[in-house]
Formats: sequence, structure tokens, C-alpha cells
Amino acid sequence: MRSDQVNFSRYASGYDGVAKFLHWLVVLLIAAQFVIGWTMPGIHKGTRPDGLIAWHLGVGATLIAVVVLRIVWRLTHSPAPASLSPFFRVVSHITHGLLYLALVAVPLLGWANASSRGWSVKLLGVLPYPSISPVGSSAGHAMGDIHGYLAWVLFALIALHIAAALFHRFVLKDETLQRMLP
Ligand code: HEM
Ligand code: HEM
Repeated sequence: MRSDQVNFSRYASGYDGVAKFLHWLVVLLIAAQFVIGWTMPGIHKGTRPDGLIAWHLGVGATLIAVVVLRIVWRLTHSPAPASLSPFFRVVSHITHGLLYLALVAVPLLGWANASSRGWSVKLLGVLPYPSISPVGSSAGHAMGDIHGYLAWVLFALIALHIAAALFHRFVLKDETLQRMLP
């Protein structure tokens, strides 16, 4: 098979099935985290991690595991390069890089805050994650505040990312959106 044929088929398929599955699973889990995070009751000293707070920690534990899997998969499986102009290539690399950074930082800060409250974070309710911040630590408390602010930054990045996907689909009318669809 000629090399240009190989490139064409790789471009047409874009991301592999696992990468697509993990991308959309993360979208689902993050949407849930925003809804729960913004509707759960205010947290004070002595608040019990029940109800919606327990859901936020439970979905969060799954999200952390899926994000780790996603990053490992991405580092070991490069997608075929998109046919973008140099300008859009740089902008998309920066946005994707920032999205990955926020995907790691926001959950880590939430986890640290949970640890500093003495709350355990368990994967699927059974596998406990280690505590990453001492109980009662003021740094852990501050990380909870930063978690809330950075969630807004993540929200803005996602809005920009969705706008870009729609711009590709409806203005540039190229195949970019298709690369992440089944
Ligand atoms: C990208 C994923 C996540 C998003 C979008 C998110 C979003 C939010 C939001 C919007 C709040 C409310 C902030 C406020 O009202 O000031 C919050 C609070 C909180 N989240 Fe998350 N969260 C995520 C992941 C996690 C994870 C993985 C954990 C822990 C395992 C976690 C633990 C917490 C805790 C403990 C609070 C209370 C912080 C405080 O009030 O001091 N979050 N989160
Ligand atoms: C929680 C929300 C989302 C997050 C955190 C997110 C994150 C990401 C990241 C990090 C990448 C880069 C993949 C890589 O090269 O490793 C990506 C790619 C992509 N995302 Fe999202 N995404 C979200 C929602 C969406 C939505 C709602 C759409 C569609 C409207 C979408 C469409 C795409 C497309 C088409 C690509 C491939 C871009 C390309 O080929 O260069 N994403 N996403």
C-alpha cells in the first residue's frame, strides 16, 4: 500500500475507538460534576459527605481513573494529524494542552480538599484512594477554593472548544468534528 493511501485512511478515521470512547465518557462525567458541584449544598467545617456531596466524590473518583486512562492511551496512541492551517494547528494544540492540564488540576485539587476534610475518595465505592493532603491543613482548604475557580476556567475552555468544533463543522465545513464522532 502506498504511503499516501495509508495517511488518507488514518486521517479519515481520526481518533481510534478507545480514544473516542474515553473522550465522550469524560464529557459525560464532567457534565455530571458541574451539575452536582453547582447544586450540592455549601460545605462548612463539620459538613458530612452525604447526598450530592457523596455523588460528587464518587463521580470524581471515576473521573480521575478515566482521565489517567485517557492520558496513558493518548501518550501511546497518536491520532492521525488533522489537515489544519498552521495557525489553527497551533491554537488547537494550545487549547487541547490547556484542557488536559485542567482535566488533571481540577480533580486533583478537589481530591486534595476532600483529603484535608478527612473524606475518603473511593473508586466505585470500594477502592479507596490515598489521602493527598493532611486532615485540617490550610493548604487543603485553599485548594478547595482554587478547585471552584479553576472549574470556571475549565468551563470557559470547554465553551471555546465546543465553539471551535461547531466552527469547523458549519463555517470551515471540514472533517474535524467527524474525527471525534463514531
Ligand atoms: C472536572 C471535574 C470536576 C468539576 C467540574 C468540579 C466542580 C466543582 C464545583 C463547581 C464545585 C463547587 C465550587 C464552589 O461552589 O465554590 C466543586 C466543589 C468540590 N469538589 Fe469538585 N469538581 C470536579 C472534580 C472533583 C473531584 C475529582 C473531587 C474529589 C474527588 C472533587 C471534590 C470537591 C470538593 C471536596 C468540593 C468542595 C470544595 C469546597 O467547597 O471547599 N471535585 N467541584
Ligand atoms: C467536557 C468537555 C470536553 C473536554 C474536556 C474535551 C477535551 C478534548 C481534548 C483534550 C481533545 C484533544 C484530544 C487529543 O488530541 O488528545 C479533544 C478533541 C476533540 N474534541 Fe473535545 N472535549 C470536550 C467536549 C467536546 C464536545 C462537546 C465536542 C463536540 C461538539 C468535542 C469535539 C472534539 C473534537 C472534534 C476533537 C478532535 C479535534 C481534532 O481532531 O483536532 N469535544 N477534546
